[in-house]
Amino acid sequence: MHAAVVRDFEHPPRYGELPMPQLSTDEAVIVTVHAVGLHPRVRSGASGKHYTSSGRLPLVPGVDAVGELANGSLVYFVADDASMGTMAEFALVDPRRTIPLPAHIDQVTVAAAMNPAMSAWVAMRRRVPLQPGQEVLVLGATGSAGTMAVQVAKLLGAGKVVGVGRDRQRLDALLTVGADEVVQLSEDRDITADALATAACDVDLVIDYLWGPPAETTIMDLLTRRRDRSKELNWIQIGSIGGPTIQLPSVALRSANFRLLGNGQGAVSTMVYLEELPALVQEIDKGNLSISTQTQLLCDVEQVWAMPEASGVRTVFVTNKSLASS
Ligand SMILES: NC(=O)c1ccc[n+]([C@@H]2O[C@H](COP(=O)([O-])OP(=O)(O)OC[C@H]3O[C@@H](n4cnc5c(N)ncnc54)[C@H](OP(=O)(O)O)[C@@H]3O)[C@@H](O)[C@H]2O)c1
Repeated sequence: MHAAVVRDFEHPPRYGELPMPQLSTDEAVIVTVHAVGLHPRVRSGASGKHYTSSGRLPLVPGVDAVGELANGSLVYFVADDASMGTMAEFALVDPRRTIPLPAHIDQVTVAAAMNPAMSAWVAMRRRVPLQPGQEVLVLGATGSAGTMAVQVAKLLGAGKVVGVGRDRQRLDALLTVGADEVVQLSEDRDITADALATAACDVDLVIDYLWGPPAETTIMDLLTRRRDRSKELNWIQIGSIGGPTIQLPSVALRSANFRLLGNGQGAVSTMVYLEELPALVQEIDKGNLSISTQTQLLCDVEQVWAMPEASGVRTVFVTNKSLASS
């Protein structure tokens, strides 16, 4: 079969041939892959830098996909092997990791949306269940995951959603998909702090895709301006695109009811993720979660990998030309 293959961590995957996956037990099925999202998680896995990376090569990147079972039914599935991922014509999958899809569903949207949406979905349904009317701030709201988090928060009953990021145009677009207010992270610390205080000083929950310096300053800007510091503020750390570490003054944890936790592979079991996915598929199918996508053929993976991506647009590789034009 053909697949995107990483043979060393310094170079992008190259389209090439690999042996067909073989069924050796009843605990697996072969899926014909149709559409695979190029998520940040996929890039970090392919560069050997994700915290779950084993360092084994060659590897096929891809953590999830939409595909077809032998009986013709469509499924969304999550790969369970870090070195044999989903960017291939065929994948070997544990059936417990497959979620049935209706035949009419937009396959490219599902492949693009599930990974960025599930982080916020599981965070607000399982990690810290959102109570109706609570206020949510999404830090890093301009990316695909942040944009989904804004929509998920509204869908799950948030009273107010504040999107925070640095790109003005993308922030304005968030107001059309459910954000009640947006705050731009500007170079001027005081201006940002005042804007955060006005929009979000009483926020109940932060969904953080940035970490690094933007999280470091936003934590203190919010905590020092809270009207009631004993009101619980749950900060769910999900991505670290702004930097891998922060410095956190100890006073942050003493002077306010500040609870810091994370959401990701390990913090939440695979079983919990899988339990939540059918409900998420339903919301995508109903059109309640939208995402901007661009499709590319999997055979072009090497060139596409190196191309700059527009912010907030998720690339989806397809194996079949008819999906490329959808
Ligand atoms: N743990 C999980 O389950 C999980 C799930 C999904 C995503 N994530 C992680 O969350 C992060 C975001 O994912 P994504 O899908 O949204 O990525 P994405 O679509 O590529 O978007 C990244 C966004 O981050 C913004 N950004 C980058 N550096 C920034 C900074 N220093 N300050 C402010 N904004 C900054 C970019 O804004 P500009 O346009 O201004 O550059 C862009 O809008 C990634 O680290 C990803 O791995 C984790």
